[in-house]
Amino acid sequence: MERIGVMGGTFNPIHLSHIMVGSRAYDMLNLDKVLFMPSKQPTYKNMDCIASEEDRCAMIERAIKPYPFFELSDYELKREGPTYSADTFSMLKKEHPDTKYYFIIGGDSLDYFEDWHLPDVILQNCTLVVAPRATELKEKKEAREFAECDYAATADRIRKKFTSKQVDGSLFVPEIVFMSSPLVSISSSDLREYLECGISVNGLVPKEVIDYIDEKGLYQNQAFTKIKADMKALMKPKRYRHILNVAEMCYKLAKLHGYDAVKAYTAGLLHDCAKHLDDQQILAECDKLGIQYDEVEKRQASNLLHSKVGAVWAGDKYGVADEDIISAISYHTTGKPDMSTLEKIVYMSDVIEPGRDMVYTPSLDVIRSIATYDLDLACAHVLNNVVPYLLRTYKDNVCMMSVETYEYYKKYLTEDV
Ligand SMILES: [Fe+2]
Ligand SMILES: [Fe+2]
Repeated sequence: MERIGVMGGTFNPIHLSHIMVGSRAYDMLNLDKVLFMPSKQPTYKNMDCIASEEDRCAMIERAIKPYPFFELSDYELKREGPTYSADTFSMLKKEHPDTKYYFIIGGDSLDYFEDWHLPDVILQNCTLVVAPRATELKEKKEAREFAECDYAATADRIRKKFTSKQVDGSLFVPEIVFMSSPLVSISSSDLREYLECGISVNGLVPKEVIDYIDEKGLYQNQAFTKIKADMKALMKPKRYRHILNVAEMCYKLAKLHGYDAVKAYTAGLLHDCAKHLDDQQILAECDKLGIQYDEVEKRQASNLLHSKVGAVWAGDKYGVADEDIISAISYHTTGKPDMSTLEKIVYMSDVIEPGRDMVYTPSLDVIRSIATYDLDLACAHVLNNVVPYLLRTYKDNVCMMSVETYEYYKKYLTEDV
């Protein structure tokens, strides 16, 4: 009897976790081959973020090429109408009655398996193979232990619920097995977000698939593409690199601090969008836009006012309507007392992005580390490095907002807040 594993899903895009789970199933279950069977465009998912069937198949082909026991199957793609797994497996079984099928699903799918279309038909035609997600595995040393502890009850319930008497009087008991997956946690939706924001997916997606995504420009965010093209055209290369670094740092800090990473990336990408203007141009733009400024700001117009002009431009030129993004751009040079999470993220990212030089801020690496777990304390350290020095050196020529921000944040250096 031939033994065939079936990996289903949208594969949007395929990634190394799919490959590892497929390989593990092949070894563990002594399979003859594993089919990668992409599903059609799911009706409940946003059409925009799903790559075409042709692209998804091309990516799968590239990803599985090194593995002779993997095969791309268009079995679901070529069917008309809804393609339920129940139909797939009953048709496969009818066509190949001597083949034993193993349907490999993620651990998270087991919880709602009973809500699938005709789960009893699926179970009658294949063995369910459950691959726990790596995030869940982190909690346990052994996948087997994990499976027994957490999914045993669900599996038992499913087995009992769908045990039935056959026509010949024998008892049919569904087969559900668990596999210990390699410790990799990758989700296609995270990958699409990385790709949208230009974050590297090296090590998460096979190199050949990354090349294909680049070639075809898949998973791009059109708004980001336009902003980047504008920034590249307007800024000197070093400034443009700084903007990309800040955007990426904003993304990472947002992830670490539970904030919307795409929103943070947007703010980072636009924070210096008016930085190419000189003092006179900035003042003229402030007058045109009705932006108020004081004597100190007038004297350091480009340095201090590009943030305020940039905040207005973010809305006017790039259609940003989110007040938090606008405010984070507006206060990224001075900070302000009691900043929002995004305001702190942008303020910090501007200072700690990897292109910043340690010469000017000797404790930069320490601050970088602090920013990963405490944004208030990181802000306090940055302000403490800068503001007292400015006050000593430039006296009356220091921006009042920076001083007020320092006064607010310095408590984090001494108090247990
Ligand atoms: Fe700036
Ligand atoms: Fe900047």
